[in-house]
Amino acid sequence: MEKLMIRGGRPLRGTVQISGAKNSAVALVPAAILAESEVTLDNLPHLSDVAVYREILEDLGAEIEWHGDVMKIDPSAAVSRPMPNGKVKLLRASYYLMGALLGRFGEVTIGLPGGCNFEPRPIDQHIKGFEALGATVTNEHGSIRIHAKELRGAKIYLDVVSVGATINIMLAASRAKGLTIIENAAKEPEIIDVATLLSAMGAKIKGAGTETIRIEGVERLHGCRHSIIPDRIQAGTYMIAAAATHGDVVIDNVIPKHMEAMTAKLEEMGVEVIELDESIRIIGRPDYSAIDVKALVYPGFATDLQSPMTSLLTQAKGVSILTDYVYSNRFKHVPELARMGANIRTEGRSAIIEGSTLHAAKVRAADLRAGAALVVAALTVTDGITEISGVEYIDRGYDNLVDNLRMLGADVWREVDTEEEEWGAVE
Ligand code: EPZ
Repeated sequence: MEKLMIRGGRPLRGTVQISGAKNSAVALVPAAILAESEVTLDNLPHLSDVAVYREILEDLGAEIEWHGDVMKIDPSAAVSRPMPNGKVKLLRASYYLMGALLGRFGEVTIGLPGGCNFEPRPIDQHIKGFEALGATVTNEHGSIRIHAKELRGAKIYLDVVSVGATINIMLAASRAKGLTIIENAAKEPEIIDVATLLSAMGAKIKGAGTETIRIEGVERLHGCRHSIIPDRIQAGTYMIAAAATHGDVVIDNVIPKHMEAMTAKLEEMGVEVIELDESIRIIGRPDYSAIDVKALVYPGFATDLQSPMTSLLTQAKGVSILTDYVYSNRFKHVPELARMGANIRTEGRSAIIEGSTLHAAKVRAADLRAGAALVVAALTVTDGITEISGVEYIDRGYDNLVDNLRMLGADVWREVDTEEEEWGAVE
């Protein structure tokens, strides 16, 4: 295992390129299984979750070539093999194999997904969707078996607005007989990205990005070429880091529309934000005002950015309240920030943050975005080197993080984490 070492206190300056979106990529790669010929994905991020997905698809018989940010997936020889354990447990988004394999083969057996366990994350809405499409879902020795002689279109109302359930139902329904209508669907840009890929594969989907999605099932899907949207969470993290270090950074390869909630909150604090066609420039200021932030489903402020935002709010004057309405207890970064001197406490779904100066410390990333929060915090520290262990979590979502931060002038490097190896303490 490795740890991140950050000697903070330098304003970030320059330009950073944002890669393709992780949360699209982990749906688009398995979606390729639905096709019967080669799918090419451009702008694919280099992330450990994508690498794990590649291995899973190869185990299922797909042929894959991955050079730079282009992946070619030939799923023609793929089969649906039981996957009770192993790699599927390494990532939360392995649940997309359910919709993809069910759609193509009418059958899938898979262990329950792993991933960032910041709180219990049920998949009841995914199951509700598969059952509505006519599938039988059983628990077999801890694995889920989903099978159907024939999938039939249905009207499905999601009780919870869920990104994963919306995408999983779209995947299976695109090869079901007849019309599926998803109501109370999630509207995140990643949903539109998946619908765009499926449409290029020959699916008939209308309404992605709104709360009602209509999918007219087709018998076969074919190969295509698709370019993945930029990662709005990575982009938001660099926006936050630029502001927190009072820097001046151009974040390139973004869709500014996806960043509206983040832009609004930064401006409210006093950060200067300049939107260009495919980039956003952040100009930091010496002082920021405390603000309240509510993490909501899209187009609200993204829950995936609330942890790094917490770190930025430690740099504002006064008391900020950050409330997460998507997850009830996504606050694993809070005790670690407190270790760095943050004056911060949680109350129910909220973190109450009083502006303070942070100090160098040894801290641990307990999940991906908690890790991003610690990186932002460490960049603000002027009295030494912050050591962040648990880097494997950060590697799941930030392509090229160390090089990007270095190019922006940060003093950051990786070292072998001998303490972690001794304790074997990987969560
Ligand atoms: C996606 O997770 C993202 N992951 C998450 O990003 C993100 O935090 C989340 O959406 C919310 O935006 C991927 O896209 C791979 P949900 P997902 O289903 O789809 C509840 C990151 O840091 N719920 O939209 O799993 C659930 O508990 C990650 O990049 C049910 O109750 O999230 C949560 O409170 C972490 N039943 C809410 O809905 C269900 O069947 C939203 O979850 C499904 C979800």
